[in-house]
Amino acid sequence: MTSSETLPDRLRKLKLWLQRRWNRISREARHLDETAVQTAYARWAPYYDMVFRAPLYWGRHAAVKRINALEGHVLEAGIGTGMSLPHYGKHLTVTGIDLSEAMLERARIRSADLGNIAGLICMDAGNLSFPDDHFDITVAMYVMPVVPDPARVLRELERVTKPGGTVILVNHFSAAHGPRAMVERGLKRYADRLGWNPEFPKSRVLRHTSMVLEDEETLSPFGLFTLMSFRKAGGTPGD
Ligand SMILES: C[S@@+](CC[C@H](N)C(=O)[O-])C[C@H]1O[C@@H](n2cnc3c(N)ncnc32)[C@H](O)[C@@H]1O
Repeated sequence: MTSSETLPDRLRKLKLWLQRRWNRISREARHLDETAVQTAYARWAPYYDMVFRAPLYWGRHAAVKRINALEGHVLEAGIGTGMSLPHYGKHLTVTGIDLSEAMLERARIRSADLGNIAGLICMDAGNLSFPDDHFDITVAMYVMPVVPDPARVLRELERVTKPGGTVILVNHFSAAHGPRAMVERGLKRYADRLGWNPEFPKSRVLRHTSMVLEDEETLSPFGLFTLMSFRKAGGTPGD
């Protein structure tokens, strides 16, 4: 800093310095979260199908059934080991992304004989490298409670979906009160090790979107999971 600098110049410099520090800290914090997710899913990958095929079956089935009634290019974010892949109709083109290479490796093996998979790419659902209005349908199953910033993921899904297109979320949402709420609050401290956040109220999704919630379906087992189907404002899919 030189003595000829005016006070506004100095304040501008200070603001810039603070901004750079803040960006660096939040980048590092995000990196830690991503690392926690990657570590957790590298651990899960060998057992994931065995443990989660049955309990998460209904959500996948319900989402894929709805998607199969539509047309076009599907983005599945947080595709994991790709358990949904063989069930998508052959009239659809499917692209999958996930942050975990260990999970994607399994998805790639699973997709080897399927003719309608456009790509399985390692990518952050909160920072998609697809252009705006690219997909007819986007879907994230059991992903929102796992990501550090669900609002950012939802914004990205909306961004890459064509106007008039469909965004589907399947999730566990935490109970507001009662014994289930107590268990979920207790499990929260293990979120990093589990690789998902057990305390996840619906408001964390709904208050961050202006998309129209067209349909909501409570799913088995025991109504633990919910499917939400949103429509992005604008034209009709296929425009
Ligand atoms: C509970 S698993 C669900 C996998 C799959 N959707 C299913 O139905 O079995 C969550 C997946 O989200 C992925 N994931 C977590 N954070 C992510 C992020 N920021 N971007 C993309 N994928 C992410 C994890 O690697 C994991 O494969």
